[in-house]
Amino acid sequence: MDKRFNGYLSVPSARIDFPEDDRKEISRKIDEVLKSGMLTLGKYTKEFEENFREYVKTEHAVAVNSGTAALEICLRASGIKNSSVVVPTNTFCATPAAVIHAGCKVIFSDIGDDMCLDPDSLQNSIKKDTKAAIIVHIAGNITENINAIKDICNDKNILLIEDAAHAAGSSFAGVKAGNIGGCAAFSFYPTKVMTSGEGGMITANSKEICKKALVLRDQGKESFNSNNIVELGYNWRMSEISAIIGMQQLKRLDEFIEKRKKAAGIYNKVLKETENIRPLVVPKKASPNCYKYVASLDCLAEGKIKREGLKKNMKEKFGVSLSGEVYDVPCHLQPVFKNFFGNIGLPNSERLCRSHICLPIYPQMKKEEAEYAADCLTKAVGDLR
Ligand SMILES: Cc1ncc(COP(=O)(O)O)c(C=O)c1O
Repeated sequence: MDKRFNGYLSVPSARIDFPEDDRKEISRKIDEVLKSGMLTLGKYTKEFEENFREYVKTEHAVAVNSGTAALEICLRASGIKNSSVVVPTNTFCATPAAVIHAGCKVIFSDIGDDMCLDPDSLQNSIKKDTKAAIIVHIAGNITENINAIKDICNDKNILLIEDAAHAAGSSFAGVKAGNIGGCAAFSFYPTKVMTSGEGGMITANSKEICKKALVLRDQGKESFNSNNIVELGYNWRMSEISAIIGMQQLKRLDEFIEKRKKAAGIYNKVLKETENIRPLVVPKKASPNCYKYVASLDCLAEGKIKREGLKKNMKEKFGVSLSGEVYDVPCHLQPVFKNFFGNIGLPNSERLCRSHICLPIYPQMKKEEAEYAADCLTKAVGDLR
């Protein structure tokens, strides 16, 4: 049933989709697990890993308890400690934090107009001790510069790690996110395109990386039933309950993406007519999962209106909640990273982070909700100018 706000439609920033059949199946399996007493790293974790690996088409997948854990394990399992790692500055704080926790230095890099790592900036950021670069598939978009980025990494002999937290189900030229770099980290946080409550996944074709990932995620134990501690690991285990939820969501992933694409198509249609609101361009060879619908607003770029005011107006006047940005403040301007790196300037990131908004998007979004949200955006921008 439609929720109404002051007589208008009310559109939330996101909606998490667990159809009734899925809830029943999840409850049945959780009951089975509770009866068995095997609550962590059991048969459902293995099955989830196998299903996800098969979906992404990599040789291996290792389930963990968050995307942050997946990132740190990727870095640590690839044996690049004490080196520097290039990270695009418009990412969630977990990306550079994982690099630091893994014993490496961060080099913040700038982005292109597609909000993904810029190849020229990557090239200029690489130092003598650089052993990896992280590409973040922002909003579920894989950059059309991905081959140029891969070439630079191959040329400089550095590992390309995918932060695929936004990108479950996205692909470029038919290759799925998670199977593009040397290894990849996914997040299944509740607001992502698919969720396991909390959780993450590492995918890779390297047997060595995944073998080490299995050890690291379980306190450095040589194997699950061993007490031989061969690495300094951590508790990064996935619970069986998360694996059960994740598996059920994975079955629906393509369906979720198709529905998100429909909503994005409606936004594209309505916003095509507007001059000052420019949706992020999707590369021809890319098939995004539509995790976020990003649009740049000239009036934000020019400083004519403030994003907080726009968001407040959208919510209070029209009942439309814009979704979180990707990202509102680039990491190099966050106090914690400023303390590490001092004042550096990455102009493209600063401009793009300042000037975009994310319209609400979710699988169950109705045509009229998307039309209404896009209309309200144009009205709210007009009101504040
Ligand atoms: C780009 C990016 N990297 C890493 C993470 C961390 O994932 P998690 O919250 O599952 O630890 C997130 C999650 O929000 C993310 O958006």
